[in-house]
Amino acid sequence: MLEKDIKKVLVSTQEIEEICVRLGEQITKDYSGKKPLMVGLLKGCMPFMSELMKHLDLYMEVELMGVQSYHGGTASTGDVKITRDLDIPVKGRDIIIAEDIVDTAKTINVITKLLKYRGANSVEVVTLLDKPAGRVVDFEPKYIGITIPKEFVVGFGLDYDEMYRNLPYVGVLKEEVYTK
Ligand code: PRP
Repeated sequence: MLEKDIKKVLVSTQEIEEICVRLGEQITKDYSGKKPLMVGLLKGCMPFMSELMKHLDLYMEVELMGVQSYHGGTASTGDVKITRDLDIPVKGRDIIIAEDIVDTAKTINVITKLLKYRGANSVEVVTLLDKPAGRVVDFEPKYIGITIPKEFVVGFGLDYDEMYRNLPYVGVLKEEVYTK
């Protein structure tokens, strides 16, 4: 049913799995001997973080933070709102923020600064998708799954009007879906 709204598949289920294996190996190596705290930014992070975690061979903790910046449309408003804060202090922790996409980078810029302000020892970002053409704030995530062009994508956590997060791949939404 959802598939009829998709113009093309941009990142397939298999590619996502391969990305998670690669990023998992890299992060496992980089954080060996440390006990990182992975902070997922809800809601988009859910499928990606779940898949990625399986490939992290580390003593690590996982926490979630609710963050919103789009408020229903297809463009970021830049007005970053924390809808659910962390339950634990981050002072001295090595944090890996898990994101589905870095687009304007306004969200990640605000959250990275906030966690550093709260005393984190280090803050790095792992994102499934990077859309550098959308940047408004200068920011380069340390761990990138795949770089995508400036198209409106949904699936594997990414939504349009809260729909399509449950697609098992990342696809480009047909324009008629969001212009009607
Ligand atoms: C999306 C996405 C990122 C952010 C990226 O979240 O999950 O957090 O936008 O955009 P930016 O780089 O332009 O800031 P959204 O606010 O739509 O909330 P959601 O995760 O609940 O979908």
